Amino acid sequence: MSDKAGRVHETWSSRWTFIMAATGSAVGLGNIWKFPYIAGENGGGAFVLIYLFCILAIGIPVMIAEVLMGRWGRSSPVHTMYKLVDDAKAPRIWHGIGWMGVVAGFIILSYYSVIAGWAIRYFLQVAGGAIQSIDGQAASDLFTSMLSSTGTLVFYHSLFMVMTMFVVIAGVTKGLGRAVRILMPVLMVMLVILLFFSMRIGDFPAAFKYLFSVDFSSLSGPAILTALGHAFFTLSLGMGAIMVYGAYMPDHAPIGKTVLTVAGLDTLVALMAGLAIFPIVFANTAIAPGEGPGLLFISLPVAFGNMPGGMAFGMLFFALVTVAAWSSSISLIEPAVSWLVETGKATRLQAGVGFGLICWLLGLGTVFSFGPWEDIRLFQFNFFEFADFLTANIMLPVGGLLMAIFVGWMMDQTIVRQELDIERDWVFNLWRAVLRVFSPIAILWVTLEGLSDIFGWEWLSLMSWLS
Ligand code: TRP
Repeated sequence: MSDKAGRVHETWSSRWTFIMAATGSAVGLGNIWKFPYIAGENGGGAFVLIYLFCILAIGIPVMIAEVLMGRWGRSSPVHTMYKLVDDAKAPRIWHGIGWMGVVAGFIILSYYSVIAGWAIRYFLQVAGGAIQSIDGQAASDLFTSMLSSTGTLVFYHSLFMVMTMFVVIAGVTKGLGRAVRILMPVLMVMLVILLFFSMRIGDFPAAFKYLFSVDFSSLSGPAILTALGHAFFTLSLGMGAIMVYGAYMPDHAPIGKTVLTVAGLDTLVALMAGLAIFPIVFANTAIAPGEGPGLLFISLPVAFGNMPGGMAFGMLFFALVTVAAWSSSISLIEPAVSWLVETGKATRLQAGVGFGLICWLLGLGTVFSFGPWEDIRLFQFNFFEFADFLTANIMLPVGGLLMAIFVGWMMDQTIVRQELDIERDWVFNLWRAVLRVFSPIAILWVTLEGLSDIFGWEWLSLMSWLS
């Protein structure tokens, strides 16, 4: 069914619904699980500062561009790119933005689902009393024992995948959209409570110093690339998720303010998660800041296991992490599903089941990389690390780079001006300058330096050409 503007999709009921949906997509494992552990692996303060800078100077301008493209195109990212490329009379190679996003979404969802499965598993562990009065060492053992059971990991990965496909098939704006509106604020409140608690039982001053005192000497090229990649990952940027949500956004909602709200909430949640986790890390010699992907699952049980009412609190926490992951995961597959449905070749049900199966299969690679495949490496990465690196640190930044160039240089600028509807000229001009010049150069440079450091390809490094 299409309305008089020829739209095939429903639109959100209000700007507020868009904010909640986009925040639901943005706030997820990236904030609560990934941000703390990569901050820990990359030495803290300087990394956090670069990450914040990337959000502000690259993430937000590109996010505005991505929403704008979606709202102008009004369909799945693939078809939106067809339309935009036609309108701009740009070369067809630009269609690649849509296609690359579909592929990136599959790969991210495949491992995202495995990690979300851990959260479901932990919900049940807490409910079963497994973390009662636990200490750092025991918490670490508990995590390791989960990883060593491939069957357990496959089971929860499958469960989460089914949950995701269920919502995708039912349609995005109903059901989960409503639930997220209530549950996201609850998650925020819980993080605040958790933060106060870990201030009391943990080493808060050490955590604060670690996260916010900046020492640039500890910063490497790969760390800067990781910070940039994470800015994209945490905002759900660069693969069409935000574009497809933008396609459902009402015509006259102000894009700039809306994007600022979403990015602000997302950053707040990440910082709160960091401030809740690190005090416990620094109070327990058994837990290292550079622990890796297990950091959240090893540190927080120590808090839940030793606080009054910790069992109920811990259960609620892991349930909410699961919901946060759930509202993110649907946006990873929605670009692909909406594309296939638009072609008329499949129903939502068929598209959902088919694509879900592909992601599920791919996810098995991640499951095995925490067990039997741990030592199978491509360069220095195992399967999970490679999937994460390829998507977060390469495909998303490249997607963002192309979007910045496309909106900044290829699209009709009167459309852009009119769509954005920013009252003050200087704000618009600043945004446009950043998008056209700063963002592309910064993304390209950071990506090339990072790659050259990681793989030892010196010819990629501008720095080495200059010196
Ligand atoms: N932003 C989500 C998180 O932080 C993950 C996510 C959802 C995502 N949709 C995306 C990442 C699209 C990149 C692209 O957990």
